[in-house]
Amino acid sequence: MNRPPVDASAFRTVMRHYPTGVTVVTSLREGEPRGMTLNAFSSVAVDPPLLLICVNREARSYLYIATSRIFCVNLLSAGQRELAERFSGKIREHQFEGVPFEVDVTGAPVIPGTIGHFDCEVAEEHHAGSHSIIIGRVVGCAARTGTPLGYFNGGYHDFGMRVE
Ligand SMILES: Cc1cc2nc3c(=O)[nH]c(=O)nc-3n(C[C@H](O)[C@H](O)[C@H](O)COP(=O)(O)O)c2cc1C
Repeated sequence: MNRPPVDASAFRTVMRHYPTGVTVVTSLREGEPRGMTLNAFSSVAVDPPLLLICVNREARSYLYIATSRIFCVNLLSAGQRELAERFSGKIREHQFEGVPFEVDVTGAPVIPGTIGHFDCEVAEEHHAGSHSIIIGRVVGCAARTGTPLGYFNGGYHDFGMRVE
């Protein structure tokens, strides 16, 4: 049976109750770096190492990822809230001005001070409504110490507290 979907505001309200980490997904096209704040991120498989991100096809970052077919998922630490805000659409041009970065395998920006990153090549893309589910094959990764930046109910949180 084809039931009508719930309305978008009900969907958003419940989704806000699901806590997530915060990433900045970067890409590089014709030498120009680009980044977007993104929390729709998940591990997919270990053998081979695959992950997914969900990207709005209207975001400029989408064009960078879809054409270069590379991206890097940078896992923000609790002290990097400013980066989350910077890459959520606030700065449209020259996003990386004053933001130093390194590279791993693909050349997509690896942001220092994060708690880890996954450097990826695009393996598959599936359209789902306004977004694309992009599956990345991980070709480089590293973990670093620190506590994660979290997102819950529309606000940033320090997710470093352990429940005993
Ligand atoms: C905490 C947070 C999480 C976000 N998660 C996503 C996401 O998972 N997918 C997405 O397409 N946009 C997400 N956004 C919105 C994008 O960051 C924003 O639309 C994007 O930076 C637009 O910039 P662009 O058009 O220059 O690429 C998120 C924003 C915030 C603040």
